[in-house]
Amino acid sequence: MTRQPLVGGNWKMNLNAASGQSLAAGVAQGLESIHGHCDVVLFPPFPYLLTIAEQCGSAQLGGQDVSQHQQGAHTSEVSGDMLVDCGCTTALVGHSERRQNLGETNEMASNKVHAALDAGLRVLLCVGETLEARQAGHTREVVLEQLAGSLQGINSQVWDRIDLAYEPVWAIGTGQTAGPEQAQEVHAILRTEVESRYDARSAGRTRILYGGSVKPSNTAELMACGDVDGVLVGGASLEAESFLDIVRAVART
Ligand code: PGA
Repeated sequence: MTRQPLVGGNWKMNLNAASGQSLAAGVAQGLESIHGHCDVVLFPPFPYLLTIAEQCGSAQLGGQDVSQHQQGAHTSEVSGDMLVDCGCTTALVGHSERRQNLGETNEMASNKVHAALDAGLRVLLCVGETLEARQAGHTREVVLEQLAGSLQGINSQVWDRIDLAYEPVWAIGTGQTAGPEQAQEVHAILRTEVESRYDARSAGRTRILYGGSVKPSNTAELMACGDVDGVLVGGASLEAESFLDIVRAVART
């Protein structure tokens, strides 16, 4: 089963209006000359979504988060409908920086998955273990618990609109990438779990991205793993050329 690879650029809370626009314009221009099949989604900070929507060319746009709620008295939150209004196709859900620093639980992530899907968005759901969990041999247990907890009540009909990202917490922003074998091992665990939750067809179609210190120099070896279908990039997505080099490496696979 061939899966269209996906590259996400998670800008996190970086850049400003001017540098964000020029990054998006640089990425858009570079994408014009990249031949090969690869979906690209940029995740800028919320305030810049509307302007970046005009600059991002063939790249899609995503929200770094989405509210669990549809509307109402939820100060500072951004709903799925608002993301759609701003031109987003996708919402990132359950990023470890939200789980760890802002107390986001699996239940909240699950509500967000539902809210995003209800608004017509795709979801990129992140899971990943801490260094302590890995060292204690609990990686499998942790990612499966996050997966099950974040997908409560999600049936096979909507599964087609969900992509997964395995992002080991110890590899995010640390320069320490999971080796291809480590990534492949967890990706295979996730795919097998999708098969047992849904069916072989759904598992075969699910894109599972790797994230955590992805750079141009380690993208090809990660993409060579059978169950790695793309990458979610933080730091290296903040500069057009390094991000485009990653997209090129992915599009060549
Ligand atoms: P990083 O971040 O590439 O800077 O490690 C990845 C992410 O958090 O999505």
